[in-house]
Amino acid sequence: MKHLLSIADLGARGINDVLHLTDNFVEVSGRAIPKVPALRGKTIVSLFYEDSTRTRLSFETAAKRLSADTMTFSVSSSSVSKGESLRDTVETIEAMGIDAVVVRHKSAGAPSRVASWVGASVINAGDGWHEHPTQALLDCYTIGSRFGLRGDRSGGAASLEGMRIAIVGDIKHSRVARSDVGAFTALGAEVVVVAPPTLLPPSLDGWPVTVSHHLDEVIGTLDVVYVLRLQRERMTEALVPSMREYRTGYGLTAARVRRLRPDALVMHPGPMNRGVEIDAEAADDPRSVITAQVANGVAVRMAVLYLLLGAGTDRVMSVPASAEEAALEDQRGDHKPASSAGPVDGPPAPDDPPARDGPPAPDGQAPTDGQLVTNGQPAHDGQAPTDHRSTNKKPRRRLVPARESSVTGSSRD
Ligand code: MLT
Repeated sequence: MKHLLSIADLGARGINDVLHLTDNFVEVSGRAIPKVPALRGKTIVSLFYEDSTRTRLSFETAAKRLSADTMTFSVSSSSVSKGESLRDTVETIEAMGIDAVVVRHKSAGAPSRVASWVGASVINAGDGWHEHPTQALLDCYTIGSRFGLRGDRSGGAASLEGMRIAIVGDIKHSRVARSDVGAFTALGAEVVVVAPPTLLPPSLDGWPVTVSHHLDEVIGTLDVVYVLRLQRERMTEALVPSMREYRTGYGLTAARVRRLRPDALVMHPGPMNRGVEIDAEAADDPRSVITAQVANGVAVRMAVLYLLLGAGTDRVMSVPASAEEAALEDQRGDHKPASSAGPVDGPPAPDDPPARDGPPAPDGQAPTDGQLVTNGQPAHDGQAPTDHRSTNKKPRRRLVPARESSVTGSSRD
């Protein structure tokens, strides 16, 4: 697999592979020195044409924990402001010698175009209304770790089978909803989208979901309530009468959170608008796993970067399985080659965008190699990564033993 552009690139088996590998990187992240040398010598660029706090920091933290070198591209201080096209920009960056580009762009399809121009791996960090695959992976991981995901390395099991998940709010403009629907249903969950008609896509053909316009009717039946922000920066017209009315009909209010099952989860991709789509009582409820989502995001992105760059390459790295082994190796002065990380036999992704079997992409146009126009307000991200050790409130079941994978050895940096 070379790129991660969409959840359909992975399928159920590929998602399971990422989740298994993530378990190992959660363990790494909990160490006193949360760093392994798996991607030493690799260079990863963040190419963010839209504002972001958590996703960019999460990818950069993940890259650093894998010992990769990182470069950050900032649109406002780059030659983009002088009219440079996306294609010229990425080709210029690639000429410096890079291994992966993490792309966020307001236009659906931009990461796929970048993948067609460069030899480096491309990871979609959110493209317009289209997809945000690593968000979906971290959401699956968070749900799975709370409910005891039935991991199956052969990909035969539907890990979220029997779970009922509601995605509530601005489905129409949400790339998170599109990727989550694809990932949750690939793992066997039942998904209901809950929104007023104005916040649903014009057609739900091809979406494997049921629809409700009444949150109160479904709230007590859910295993997970996944709340979305009103993405006003992508709206060209008023789609809700007022914030107050929206909250009355669709907000996860304190009253509604009281009607959730005792073991239900409250999720949100962030940034949150407290008092609009989610009340503070819901965001801070013990059933909320919102900060765990952020924390798990780092480990999930480590897994994705490792799968794209670390496994199956011609690099042979010394990756001892523990600090003690590292010390022993240092004493002996030898280096053992790492075996590959295990779950690398998932379905290979084509270099071109695959036919999608999840929800159809919105009609956001793919970018040309000309200058891309930005519009609307930037998204306001609010949270930095949080230590999962203080936020994972229920005991997490390990999917695979940490030492099963050679990538989790201690760094000797
Ligand atoms: C996104 O990038 O799509 C966010 O994480 C969700 C949002 O902006 O509301």
